Amino acid sequence: MFSEKTILRIPGPTPVPPEVTRAMTHPMIGHRSGDFSALLAEVEANLREVFHTSGDIAVIAGTGTAGLEASVFSMVRQGDAVLAISTGNFGDRFTEIARRTNATLYTLNYEWGQPAKEQDVVQMLKEHPEIEVVLMSHCETSTGVLNDVQAIAKITRAHGAYLIVDAVSSFIGSPLLMDEWLVDVVVTGSQKALALPPGLALVALSKRALERVKNGPPARSFYFDLARYHKDLGADTTPWTPPVSLIYGLRASLAMIKQEGLEQAQARHRLLRDMTRAGVRALGLKLMVEDEKYASHTVTTVLVSDADAVRKVMKNDLHIAVAGGQKQLSGKIIRIGHMGYVDASDILQCLAALEIALVQTGHEIKLGAGVSAAAEVYLHAENPRY
Ligand SMILES: Cc1ncc(COP(=O)(O)O)c(C=O)c1O
Repeated sequence: MFSEKTILRIPGPTPVPPEVTRAMTHPMIGHRSGDFSALLAEVEANLREVFHTSGDIAVIAGTGTAGLEASVFSMVRQGDAVLAISTGNFGDRFTEIARRTNATLYTLNYEWGQPAKEQDVVQMLKEHPEIEVVLMSHCETSTGVLNDVQAIAKITRAHGAYLIVDAVSSFIGSPLLMDEWLVDVVVTGSQKALALPPGLALVALSKRALERVKNGPPARSFYFDLARYHKDLGADTTPWTPPVSLIYGLRASLAMIKQEGLEQAQARHRLLRDMTRAGVRALGLKLMVEDEKYASHTVTTVLVSDADAVRKVMKNDLHIAVAGGQKQLSGKIIRIGHMGYVDASDILQCLAALEIALVQTGHEIKLGAGVSAAAEVYLHAENPRY
C-alpha cells in the first residue's frame, strides 16, 4: 500500500511542492531562444535578491559539489595559497577540491560538532600573509553546525583575501547577506531549501570576485569556468545546454519564496529548528550542537544510542526518512532535516514518529513529551502561521 510513500525529513533532497513539480512539466523550449533568455533573465533578477548581491549568479547543471568545484577552479590561480576551514564532512570535501588545484593548502580542522573560531582564522592569516582565498561552510550538514560567516568574512576581507562560502544547506533557511557581509562567492544547490529536485548548482559571484575571474588567467576547468558563465549571462544565456526544466522549477520556487517573503521564510526555518530542539530536549536526548548561536536552522543533529535502529523503525513503519551520521558519526546520530517545503505540522509528525521509534527500540522516554514541548514553542512563537 505505502511502498512509494516516504516523508523526507533528511537534509536534502527535500519535498518538492506541487507548484514546482507543475512548473517543471513546461513543454521543452530551445535554450538559444528568446523564451529561454526571458526565463533566465527573470530567474537571475530574483536570484540576486535572495543572494543579496549585485554580482551575478551562474546557473550550472550539476549538484552542489559542482558549484564548489566551479568556485574553486575559477577563483584559485596557479601558485595561490588557500586556507580551507573544515568543521565536518562537507568542509573536508571542500578541502579536497582545493587540494586538486595544487594550491599551497593550509587547513583549519575542527572537532565535529564544533564551529570555526575567528581567532584561529586571524592567527592563520597573520602567519601566512600569502593566503589569497579562504573556503568555509555556512551550515556543516554532517554536524548541524552553523558557522559565523559574517565574522569570518570581515577577517578575510581585512586580510585582502577572497572568501568562498558553501551555503548548500543553509541557503534560504539562514540569513546570508552576501554583499553587505563582504562575501565574495556563495555556492548552493537546488535540492535543499529551494525545494527543487537535485541537479542545479548556483554560484553567486560578487563584483569583486567577478573582476578576479574575468581578469585572471583562464580557469583550470573548461565546463566550470565561471568567466564563461558571466560572459554569457550578459546575453541572458548559458555557455552549455542548461537543465531547462529545473530552471522552470527554480522560477516557481523563487516566486513562492517571494510570496512568503525571504525574512518570513527564515523566521519559519528558525521556528522549525526551535520546535525540533525543544522536542528533542524534552525527550531527554542530547543535541550535538548545544549552543543556539551555532545551531543550524535547517538540520538538527541528535545523539541517539542505536540511531540506525531508530531510523529504521521510523522509515519502515511510519514512512518518515531521517538521515543518519556520516563517517565517524555513523550509527551515533540522527539528522532531522527541516528545510524548504516544511511547516510546523511536519515537525510535530516527525517528533511523534521519533517517540514511537524510541519506545520500540527500548529507550525509556515519556511518550508525548517531545510533541508537547514543540507545540509549546509553536504556540508561543511571534507569528507561527506560515
Ligand atoms: C554543506 C554541503 N555542501 C555540499 C554538499 C554537496 O552537494 P551535492 O551532494 O549536491 O553535490 C552538500 C550536500 O548535502 C552539503 O550539505
